[in-house]
Amino acid sequence: MSNRKPPFPRLLLNNVSCMRNAQQILSHVNVSLHDGGAFVLTGANGSGKTTFMRMLAGFSRPSAGEVLWNGHDIQKSAIFHQYKLQLNWVSLKDAINDKCNVLDNIQWFELLEGKHGKAMPALELMGLGRLAKEKPKMLSMGQRKRLQLARMLAIDRPIWLLDEPSVALDDEGVKLLEYIIAEHRKQGGIAIVATHLPIEMEDSMVLRLPPRFPRRMSHTDMLGRMDIS
Ligand SMILES: Nc1ncnc2c1ncn2[C@@H]1O[C@H](COP(=O)(O)OP(=O)(O)O)[C@@H](O)[C@H]1O
Ligand SMILES: [Mg+2]
Repeated sequence: MSNRKPPFPRLLLNNVSCMRNAQQILSHVNVSLHDGGAFVLTGANGSGKTTFMRMLAGFSRPSAGEVLWNGHDIQKSAIFHQYKLQLNWVSLKDAINDKCNVLDNIQWFELLEGKHGKAMPALELMGLGRLAKEKPKMLSMGQRKRLQLARMLAIDRPIWLLDEPSVALDDEGVKLLEYIIAEHRKQGGIAIVATHLPIEMEDSMVLRLPPRFPRRMSHTDMLGRMDIS
């Protein structure tokens, strides 16, 4: 019989609670993620998905519990400095510099990472190869999102934190997103996705946040009450 213990989870949310504007968004959540694991956070607009992702990125503290990376609390400053280098953060704020061309927008980040050579293949994969020398203002919203994803591929960090990554993508773009997430996981990466849209991710843990403001009246109710005759 083997005495080997299972490996410690790469990321562990240990009894985590999270507040926003003095309201509870999550209470006592326990999630453990090993290499190759995935976690999908879903829920209506305003339910707290972005708040939760910001906490996972270490931008805000849990109101209770702790987020552990390799067993260490990410809120400790020495740990956070290492942890943040593991993260690839994609959100609705696209951090695209409109003064540089599409390719430079990736190569600049590659340079900061001390990496090179993946920018063009990533752009090709995301269907932007022919737009590499264009300014980002030439891109549609969906193409800007593809550029963000290409940058994430080129930078190639182990933990992906993706906040609404499929917004503005067409059907093919969503399939590509699902494909790159699956490939990332095959290589041992972790994917954490917050989305109000459906996404296919095999064997992922799913947490649905309840709406924070229960609907008191539907639009139909409201129209029914309005005197429009
Ligand atoms: N910068 C902010 N300051 C104060 N409240 C905010 C801010 N951003 C979001 N909120 C509030 O926090 C709640 C959760 O928002 P958020 O996490 O962005 O939800 P989701 O990402 O699920 O749409 C919402 O009720 C929202 O109004
Ligand atoms: Mg959000």
